[in-house]
Amino acid sequence: MSDITNLEVALGSRSYHVLVGEGLLAQAGDQVRRVAPAERVTLISNDTVFELYGDAVVQALKAAGYSVDVVRVGDGERHKSLSAATNIYEKLTSFGAQRWDPVVVLGGGVIGDLGGFVAGTYMRGVPLIHVPTTLLAQVDSSIGGKTAVNLPAGKNLVGMFYQPRLVLSDIAVLASLPAKYALGGLSEVLKYGFLEGKDLLAFVEGNLADVIALRSSEMRQVVAWCCKTKARVVSEDERDEGRRAILNFGHTVGHALETLQGYGTYEHGEAVSIGMAAAAVIGLKAGLTDETTARKVVGLLSRAGLPVRLPSVPAEVIAGSILLDKKARDRQMRFVLLRKIGEPVVTSVPEDVVVGSLGQANHLIDRML
Ligand code: NAD
Ligand code: GLY
Repeated sequence: MSDITNLEVALGSRSYHVLVGEGLLAQAGDQVRRVAPAERVTLISNDTVFELYGDAVVQALKAAGYSVDVVRVGDGERHKSLSAATNIYEKLTSFGAQRWDPVVVLGGGVIGDLGGFVAGTYMRGVPLIHVPTTLLAQVDSSIGGKTAVNLPAGKNLVGMFYQPRLVLSDIAVLASLPAKYALGGLSEVLKYGFLEGKDLLAFVEGNLADVIALRSSEMRQVVAWCCKTKARVVSEDERDEGRRAILNFGHTVGHALETLQGYGTYEHGEAVSIGMAAAAVIGLKAGLTDETTARKVVGLLSRAGLPVRLPSVPAEVIAGSILLDKKARDRQMRFVLLRKIGEPVVTSVPEDVVVGSLGQANHLIDRML
């Protein structure tokens, strides 16, 4: 157990631990039993992840004395739906699942959001354990209790805050992660570095090739660092009413680009990367971010292999899309900007400053590289 990092998300009676390390899948049974003793457990996963890691988790749960029922969902964002949730509810009732029987969710952010939503609503809430298997899910979506399904009208429109009882992040599973998802997760890792401060960023910078390759020894430290940051922010603002907004660094422009270019053109992490570079430029033009900080953001994203330049979409069009977003109020757009590395501020920026900055962004970014 010595190489396992054990962190707490402190939320009073809803507090829970996040374990980060190698070999945690094999411990899943004993760990689940500590937080949710019962006779049976339901494992929810998707086809891809179950083929890779399902047997290991089922064996570990059985070895701890659980009888195990498995629900497999198709792979992909389109399965984060109410109809997929309904299918799972029906399976749970057919298994005779009781309200004390835990649900273990094994997979990336899609299966985590869906499985978390089901666990939070079935019988008004059953014990939930996340076993995240993508870098994004390990550093972000498994912690903090946001669950959701999509509606045809938009992403994540139905959901609830429902905290897990435990998060088991086994670093070893990252070895099989396809490169594009590794890069998407890396964008979130760098986001934490910009928000958290110099130590995490210096570590990532100093070990960039190993971090990009998701080498276990480096990733164990990086994931633990990110989880610690997220755990602290969630403890301060569980329901996203204030401080938690800093986690949206890069997301204002990022979401606008995803909407304008059509979902799927950019990976979420790529759009957030461009959004972070744009936020650096907006901060610079607004007189809030200094040049050294802006260069650091743009330079590191670019060296990590992430995109930083805006696509050829007029600045006014991007601004218009931001104004339609729920974060805009009275033609003031809400941005997370950096005073310095480790000093995020959530602030309104006037429309003309945003349009002016976005119009010059690629020129300024090219000069910083
Ligand atoms: P994902 O869950 O679709 O996983 C990406 C792909 O990797 C899938 O094909 C999956 O089957 C595969 N995969 C997962 N683990 C693997 C492994 N170890 N080896 C090989 N393949 C593996 O995508 P994601 O990027 O993890 O999550 C995106 C989702 O997360 C979105 O729906 C987003 O809305 C949500 N999200 C939620 C929160 C939150 O706080 N709840 C935060 C950020 C994102
Ligand atoms: N992913 C942002 C949050 O959890 O608030």
